[in-house]
Order: sequence, then structure tokens, then C-alpha cells
Amino acid sequence: MKNNPESRPQSSNSNKDRLFSGLMKSVVGIVVILFLVLGLIVFLLFKPDLSSFESPATKIPKTELSEDTLESSNEIVDGKDIETGLIAGKGLELVKANCTNCHSSALILQNRFTREGWHSKIVWMQQTQGLWELGESESVILDYLAENYAPQPPQGRRIPLSGIEWYELKD
Ligand code: HEC
Repeated sequence: MKNNPESRPQSSNSNKDRLFSGLMKSVVGIVVILFLVLGLIVFLLFKPDLSSFESPATKIPKTELSEDTLESSNEIVDGKDIETGLIAGKGLELVKANCTNCHSSALILQNRFTREGWHSKIVWMQQTQGLWELGESESVILDYLAENYAPQPPQGRRIPLSGIEWYELKD
């Protein structure tokens, strides 16, 4: 009674089941691959426009790059260059061309130096920050900076009193 006679047909049955399910799996696999390939062919043939799937927010309106937007504006209002806030004057163009590439004009606007002071800043930038040789432009730039961004006397203080008649304090 060690060999159960009924176990044989059962095991061959499960063998068939396994064979069948294996076959089914490969059929399903083939069908899936067929659909993928068909889908790819249809996609390549008709190249559908998928833009309708994009959300409207991701659509960025295209702006035409005109000469106007590429060229910097040189508009002067109230004696100041609109684009940079720099004071209009001789040498402004050279300063704009050489001094606003790496940082904004704010670094110029917020500083006041003598001609020597500006010169030493330029030398410092040339030695440490990769500022190029300015050649003949340098003296024009220095003139501009020294004239328009020179140290100013302290403001907001009253002019010192003069001609005061002091009186003796009495005991
Ligand atoms: C090659 C790049 C470059 C160019 C061009 C350039 N600078 Fe600078 N400049 C720098 C860097 C970098 C700093 C330091 C910025 C910081 O500290 O954030 C600086 C700082 C300055 C400062 C502040 C200095 C300080 O002591 O606080 C001034 C003023 C200045 N630049 C003026 C000028 C002027 C005027 C020109 C044109 C002649 C010019 N820069 C062109 C790179 C440049």
C-alpha cells in the first residue's frame, strides 16, 4: 500500500495542467508583443499629434526674437540709463559693455571711489576675477566713474555753525 494507485493519474493530470498553463502564458506573451509591435507601427506610420495630452499650463507661448529684444536698449530717462540705472554721460557705453557682464550695475551704483579707487578695483578684478585688459577704454571708463561715482561729502548733516558768539556762564 506504499504506492497509491490513484496518485498516478492525478500527477499526470497536473502535468498536463502545467503544460497547458505554460502554453497559455506564452500565447499571452506573444499576443502582448504583437500588440506592442502593432502599436509601434501605427505610431510610426501616423505620427499622432500628442500635444493634446499636454496640460495647457506647460504650453509656453513662443515669442519672436526680434532685433529689439536682442539689442540692449540705450534709453535715457531723467539722465539715467533705463537698463542699468547708470548716469548718462561720456563713457556710459563702454562701462555698459565692459562692466555689466559678470555682475549687475548695482555694484557700481552702490560704490563711490576716487579715480585711484576705481582703478584699484579694476586692477583687483583683473588680477583675481578674470576681468580683461581694458586697453584704451580704461581711461574713458575711469573718467566716467570718477566723475559720476565720486566720493560724496556726508549728506544729511547740517552745515557746521559759524560766527557763534559764546557767552560766559555766570555762577
Ligand atoms: C570678468 C568679470 C567681471 C567684469 C567684466 C567686471 N567685474 Fe566687477 N566684479 C567681478 C566680481 C567677481 C566681483 C566680486 C563680486 C562679489 O563680491 O559678489 C566684482 C566686484 C566689483 C565691485 C565691488 C568691489 C568691492 O570692493 O565691493 C565693483 C565696484 C565692480 N566690480 C566694478 C566693476 C567695473 C567698474 C567694471 C568694468 C570696468 C567691472 N566691475 C567689470 C567681476 C567682474
